[in-house]
Amino acid sequence: MTTYINQIANYKGQEITLRGWLHNRRSSGKIHFLTIRDGSGFIQTVMSKASVGDELFQRADHLSQETAVIVSGRVRADVRAPGGYELDVAHIEVVDETNDYPISPKEHGIDYLLDHRHLWIRSERQQAILRVRHEIIDTIRTFFNERGFVLVDTPIFTPAACEGTTTLFSVPYFEDRTAYLTQSGQLYNEANAMSLGKVYCFGPTFRAEKSKTRRHLTEFWMVEPEIAYATLDDIVKLAEELVVTIVARVLTTRKSELAVLKRDTTPLEKVKTPFPHLSYDEATELLKKLGLSFEWGGDFGSPAQTALAKHFDRPVVIHRFPMSIKAFYMKPDSARPELSLSVDLFASEGYGEIIGGGQRVDDYNLLLDRIKSNKLPQEAFEWYLDLRRYGSVPHSGFGMGIERGVAWICGLEHVREAIPYP
Ligand code: 4AD
Ligand code: MG
Repeated sequence: MTTYINQIANYKGQEITLRGWLHNRRSSGKIHFLTIRDGSGFIQTVMSKASVGDELFQRADHLSQETAVIVSGRVRADVRAPGGYELDVAHIEVVDETNDYPISPKEHGIDYLLDHRHLWIRSERQQAILRVRHEIIDTIRTFFNERGFVLVDTPIFTPAACEGTTTLFSVPYFEDRTAYLTQSGQLYNEANAMSLGKVYCFGPTFRAEKSKTRRHLTEFWMVEPEIAYATLDDIVKLAEELVVTIVARVLTTRKSELAVLKRDTTPLEKVKTPFPHLSYDEATELLKKLGLSFEWGGDFGSPAQTALAKHFDRPVVIHRFPMSIKAFYMKPDSARPELSLSVDLFASEGYGEIIGGGQRVDDYNLLLDRIKSNKLPQEAFEWYLDLRRYGSVPHSGFGMGIERGVAWICGLEHVREAIPYP
């Protein structure tokens, strides 16, 4: 019976065949211990001369890491084995012999590993991260689908900026035109929400970020919900629910991956609502109290984000940033027009911003003013202005960067490990 390592509990005492790769090998002279991985997991197999014969036994002593193998044998329960089972090998077939695999179990530098990312993803740690990433993405899709949102894909080639012109990637578009890689699907989401009410997009987004920090990628994945008639408070609640749902799901379904990553799950278990809510004003006061020099009106850079995100034992919601530091589409707070109806959600343990969003300008004249004062090409935004010409309503939404979420939940130093190919 050909099966997968994660199915092995169903075959106790039976003969099975596993198809995979040699992960690790040690030998006691009379017995070889070969750790096999097959994509679904890892298992230690035990091979004796008596059971496989001299020739195979000799050969197995020279097989090196990442050799592709098919092994057959009997499943034996063993309480000492990591997965609870071992395989007594009766036969091994070498599908492709590997020599000089570039990534050995010893330590390698990060640049070396990144140059070998296509092989590095085979490691137990990288597999664990990719599985958690998968779980997070699956949870997000289910979360929105169950709540009646419609997934509407937004374009990658776009004619204009959404999040400021300084981080735009431009692409030659045929002979005489320029297109830009999308920074966010939001503007199209707004059009889609006016059609379908509750929508989301989920795809790659691009920022020409020159700053090399542990939080920034040039290509990252973002999920963005947008809701017609929703206010800032509505989407803050939705963002909190989303974060709580993701963390709870990963904690229940991905325990073994978190263990591989040596993730201390105690802080994640505290991720329950209500999260602390701070206005931008309150956050700046808190930063001062914490001894950080911070002027009202600035954006929270890396040290400020880290400090705010470390101060609380759970994620924190920060709202009403100054208009001057937020994007052109943010709706001003009618009580204090110098502030925007914006929100950031900072992940705990110093991780910082994982979600940004807010309520959008729904007034035609104000939006036109803001497009002009931000020196955006009005022509490229005429369709966006149409949304305020025809049946404009209050609406709000947010975006969550997947890699920032993965980095936080996995406890990674850097977002580059949170995406398959940074
Ligand atoms: O705060 P941002 O720039 O907001 C928007 O793009 C809005 N248009 C979203 C919306 O309201 N629909 O980006 C949203 C999130 C950030 O909170 C962060 O998690 C992630 O996207 N992000 C990045 N992740 C990795 N590398 C980068 N360079 C990122 N820039 C933003
Ligand atoms: Mg932001």
